[in-house]
Amino acid sequence: MISLIWAMTRQRVIGKNNKMPWHIKEDLVYFRKHTAGKTVLMGENTYVSLKGYYKDRPLPYGKIYVASFNSNLKLEDATVVLDAVDFLKNVEEDVWVVGGASIYALALPYADRLYISWVKENYEGDTYFPELDFTKFQMVSEKESDLVTYSIYERV
Ligand SMILES: NC(=O)c1ccc[n+]([C@@H]2O[C@H](COP(=O)([O-])OP(=O)(O)OC[C@H]3O[C@@H](n4cnc5c(N)ncnc54)[C@H](OP(=O)(O)O)[C@@H]3O)[C@@H](O)[C@H]2O)c1
Repeated sequence: MISLIWAMTRQRVIGKNNKMPWHIKEDLVYFRKHTAGKTVLMGENTYVSLKGYYKDRPLPYGKIYVASFNSNLKLEDATVVLDAVDFLKNVEEDVWVVGGASIYALALPYADRLYISWVKENYEGDTYFPELDFTKFQMVSEKESDLVTYSIYERV
């Protein structure tokens, strides 16, 4: 099972200066609830970004895969994946894809489930989630707060 999880505005903004454009605590709690201890795949930029947030604290995931084309890259807490598409095609364990834009784009064709946090307020950014064909997915759950609509979709 491959699950993608992310937060975006209705304009599909997901990032700014390699950070999140917003600080919405309840969404961080939601993200953490779903990904804690799990196997995750992320791009190198997102890894750097998360390390910036967590500083000396360990990232709260199980197995961490970091996609990078840099064959010299060595990370003490993660396995480097040189071909993210090959990884997604062949992986047998459940994986949570946690960003960023380039890795979501690669992973969308393999996604079984989408966990989208629709951020209600508009934020500016420099990184966008790729175009998404919702006819390929059906919503299975939706919960609303003042700030965010939490939607879960499954591939039809
Ligand atoms: N809103 C959200 O939920 C959310 C979640 C996650 C991230 N973000 C945001 O998204 C932004 C980062 O996204 P991004 O697209 O710039 O970066 P990214 O997807 O995190 O990482 C891009 C890197 O992944 C590697 N890569 C790309 N394609 C690959 C492939 N086919 N095989 C192996 N490695 C591959 C390359 O690393 P090398 O350069 O090392 O070769 C590339 O530079 C940040 O602003 C972050 O805050 C938002």
